[in-house]
Amino acid sequence: MTSVDLRTPAELDEAERYTAHNYHPLPVVITEGEGAWVTDVDGRRYLDFLAGYSALNFGHRHPGLIAAAHAQLDRITLTSRAFVHDQFAEFCRSLAELCGKDLVLPMNTGAEAVETAIKVSRKWGYQVKGVPDGRAEIIVAAGNFHGRTTTIVSFSTDSDAKADFGPYTPGFVVVPYGDEAALREAITPHTVAVLLEPIQGEAGVLVPPTGYFAAVRALCDEHNVLMVADEIQSGLGRTGRTFAIEHEGVVPDMYVLGKALGGGIVPVSAVAADRAVLGVLKPGEHGSTFGGNPLACAVGGEVVRLLATGDFQRRSAELGERLHARLGALIGKGVVAVRGRGLWAGVDIDPALLTGRQACERLAERGVLAKDTHGSTIRLAPPLVVTAEEIDQAVDQLAAIMVEAGA
Ligand SMILES: Cc1ncc(COP(=O)(O)O)c(C=O)c1O
Repeated sequence: MTSVDLRTPAELDEAERYTAHNYHPLPVVITEGEGAWVTDVDGRRYLDFLAGYSALNFGHRHPGLIAAAHAQLDRITLTSRAFVHDQFAEFCRSLAELCGKDLVLPMNTGAEAVETAIKVSRKWGYQVKGVPDGRAEIIVAAGNFHGRTTTIVSFSTDSDAKADFGPYTPGFVVVPYGDEAALREAITPHTVAVLLEPIQGEAGVLVPPTGYFAAVRALCDEHNVLMVADEIQSGLGRTGRTFAIEHEGVVPDMYVLGKALGGGIVPVSAVAADRAVLGVLKPGEHGSTFGGNPLACAVGGEVVRLLATGDFQRRSAELGERLHARLGALIGKGVVAVRGRGLWAGVDIDPALLTGRQACERLAERGVLAKDTHGSTIRLAPPLVVTAEEIDQAVDQLAAIMVEAGA
């Protein structure tokens, strides 16, 4: 890999001129992708170590997923849920089985699935637990990232995500992430759910202390509270297991899924839970025009088939060891700390050398795409089809930019 100067392509200028500036993209204009690689408009190739924030776990244009999408495009793409289509039952059955739950409810984006989990938890709280009307509380963790709707940002602790978007939705209680005692204290008779990311991605790939989720499970059981795991980023093979929470030997009451469920082709999200929980919803109480559409179900069904083989989870576990071993060797050489599981890493770099943004710009110049978060952390989440050699290439470039920066 050779270093190139990233120019600001005309496409980037134009995009800046005609779009709201709610993102600050790296100056790379991508035109094609295959597997772990993308190509820009000037023909330069990059290793994609962001993978659409884990929406591309199976890589760009996975042949099986593309075939499923093509086949469905030639038949029917949208019916609305006013009718049933022939891809629906199979997708829902296979996803429910993958999750070990009775039922699923498909939506589109991650935020919609989180909203669904919130609504279902509240309704369950009123109808099953017997919480007085309007008093339901959901406990969430500081540093959370669950999406961008007005309700979800209401319980964000990130001022960029939250400030000036009020008035905020009440009914959420924030406790420190990974703190069992704080959670125990926050539970009241009105608590209906605890909503947590098994690993906090946006916060910097934070892994809570061992035993935390077992304690969360026990507290939820003790107090008749739903345990809801937002596996939108951590799930579907990313950490070396189907669900990141499996590492803790814990089964939540509800899974919230998204990102990779759409195979990097269409937005597909879902919640999965047993009948006693998801069964509270009746016709007319919740829905989505596009949720569970034929194209989404065809692609999502193929995603579930890929995951059912266990191959991607195994790759992630095995190659993740290599990624973490290689990154760990950079500690003290410009890298301060490395966290994560499987093919997912949060790398804290020495802020005296580079900001996370500068590091990502330099990595892009060297043909590796990654994304910074919170100042001096870089997130690495390559597609699970990445090879050992490609991992080495990417980590070599990270080592090189740290040396260049004076490490
Ligand atoms: C853990 C988690 N939950 C929810 C979301 C929101 O998903 P979406 O952007 O598809 O609405 C994200 C997105 O990054 C996420 O990482």
